[in-house]
Amino acid sequence: MRYYLAKHSKDEIVNLDLLTYAGNPENLKNVEKNPRYHFVHGDIADGKVVDEIMKEGVDAVMNFAAESHVDRSINYPLVFIQTNIIGTQVLLQSALSHGVKKFVQVSTDEVYGTLGETGAFIESTPLAPRSPYSASKASADFMCLAYVETYGLDVVITRCCNNYGPYQFPEKLIPLMIINALTGKKLPVYGDGMNVRDWIHVLDHCRALDIVLRNGKKGEVYNIGTSNEWHNIDLVKKILAILEKSDDFIEFVKDRPGHDRRYAIDASKIMNELGWKPEIDFEQGLIDTVQWYQSSSEWWGKIISGEYRDYYKMMYEKR
Ligand code: DAU
Repeated sequence: MRYYLAKHSKDEIVNLDLLTYAGNPENLKNVEKNPRYHFVHGDIADGKVVDEIMKEGVDAVMNFAAESHVDRSINYPLVFIQTNIIGTQVLLQSALSHGVKKFVQVSTDEVYGTLGETGAFIESTPLAPRSPYSASKASADFMCLAYVETYGLDVVITRCCNNYGPYQFPEKLIPLMIINALTGKKLPVYGDGMNVRDWIHVLDHCRALDIVLRNGKKGEVYNIGTSNEWHNIDLVKKILAILEKSDDFIEFVKDRPGHDRRYAIDASKIMNELGWKPEIDFEQGLIDTVQWYQSSSEWWGKIISGEYRDYYKMMYEKR
């Protein structure tokens, strides 16, 4: 939102958000007075609310709304079906009925499943999701492609690797580890810590999505990634090193069930066909992110003192 409003000085945005546990109006405090920003509190799976917005005249839809956390999907799969699959279908149908010109589905590299030690996902890699989360995102991707083929809606799908940066909810690896280190807690690493993730700064992801919105071709899928693979354990040690803390804070805990071993993205298509490339160096991006969390304890302090505390207990005390 911040990126888009600053970059495109004439466009207006309607932000439809149910503000579930990770939604936080404070994240958008500095845009809420912008006359080109409109907030609607509602559910993407609620056809009435969605139609009310669409009938005002919407040029493009970008579907960022999702239940996004794998661990939560293991405990509560149904809400992932409701938001990620039903919600996407409601948006697609309403977009079709109201003549929306472009629909960007923000998906994930997790729909491809897991990799061995070598290779990378390309857009034609068969989908092989392994968690309720990734299965729900893969279903939504198929529904999007069905709307292209069956009804001719101009839908484009993006599949990005792991994001990091400011304002990320502290259930995700990087903010969770930073905040635990800052508050003197153990850093819980799943399994042997040798799972691999490919990391991109959220602003590079925003830039890629903007390009796809403008130039992505109907029915195409674009992978987004920076070929920046890290074993979890090395990344956690790097965060501790930036904070000048000892590795003794690390605690190996019971693995996530069905834990995908490795993700790696081949992003040649978006680079060659749409001219996108990442701009943020990981070393610097990570230092900046750590510093952002260091100076934003008021922001995350409110989160970790709320219902997040019960979540943390439930997820980590039993491991
Ligand atoms: O690849 C894109 C995906 O990245 C997105 O589609 C998902 O919405 C997003 O949640 C993320 O999925 P991951 O499961 O890879 O992210 P997460 O931050 O939960 O975990 C990253 C890695 O770190 C994974 O191998 C599990 C491990 N991990 C995670 C947590 C929260 C730990 O070892 N300890 C932890 O406490």
